Amino acid sequence: MHALITASTEGIGKGIAKALAKQSFSLVITSRSENKIQQTLQELRKINPAIWGTTSDLTKPESLEKLVNFTLEKLGKIDLLVLNTGNPPREPITFEETTDEDWEYAVKLYLLSAIKLTKLVLPHMIKQKFGRIIYLSSWTVKEPQSIFVLADVARAPLLQLTKILTKDYSKYGITFNTILLGSFNTEGAKKGIKRLSEKRQKTFEQVWKEEVLDRIPIGRIGDPEKDIGNLVLFLYNSDYLTGSYILLDGGNTNAL
Ligand SMILES: NC(=O)c1ccc[n+]([C@@H]2O[C@H](COP(=O)([O-])OP(=O)(O)OC[C@H]3O[C@@H](n4cnc5c(N)ncnc54)[C@H](OP(=O)(O)O)[C@@H]3O)[C@@H](O)[C@H]2O)c1
Repeated sequence: MHALITASTEGIGKGIAKALAKQSFSLVITSRSENKIQQTLQELRKINPAIWGTTSDLTKPESLEKLVNFTLEKLGKIDLLVLNTGNPPREPITFEETTDEDWEYAVKLYLLSAIKLTKLVLPHMIKQKFGRIIYLSSWTVKEPQSIFVLADVARAPLLQLTKILTKDYSKYGITFNTILLGSFNTEGAKKGIKRLSEKRQKTFEQVWKEEVLDRIPIGRIGDPEKDIGNLVLFLYNSDYLTGSYILLDGGNTNAL
């Protein structure tokens, strides 16, 4: 079991890495910051020594080529690609506030990185006649929100990509799924709510309650390792669940 997890030195990606490390996966973790990689490696190697890390920037295609080469060199193969990302630096942001640069960054981060990494790992998965590709996205793709315009518009096509790849590559034993995430307890989520509270001139606690906690019927925010990690493991072990999206949101989303 050999996995590459992107954007995995904090938050959701790191939680998934921890869950997989505990199940004896060999892993490559990555993000832009060497410091965060070293800290995460130190933490995860206490659970499982078969973990490596290297820097990469999801918005830079040449850096993704290096990442896949590094992963193949360290792991020998890639059975599972979990495509997690960060967020555009100015999000939450409304359409009228966005610039051409914001859009370019968002499309590179959320969409082109998924296309590039999929193209890079597919030949290896085809050769070994096994693969799992999981894209991480958000519940707001189903219920678009003004303040997440960059993310919602840029990552929505991953659902189409999931379907099309399933049609073309199922014959090689490869599955494709997208997870639509609700609210998860991460520094990224807190940073976003902090910026939103400043814009709305409310306290962090007030906005966290209104925008996060009050919206979740089961009454708690998600835990990256436990809630997402378990779903990733389930998807890894299933050869029948493919071409789908799974809403993992504590019941938050209204849309059917
Ligand atoms: N948390 C939630 O409630 C929630 C809900 C729905 C969807 N999501 C989505 O889940 C993803 C992860 O969110 P999170 O809350 O875990 O964020 P986070 O706590 O801010 O962690 C983001 C991770 O991504 C890395 N990263 C950021 N930009 C990158 C880039 N250009 N290239 C490579 N790595 C990059 C960061 O490390 P470096 O800074 O070192 O690069 C870090 O490891 C985001 O796309 C977010 O939209 C989150």
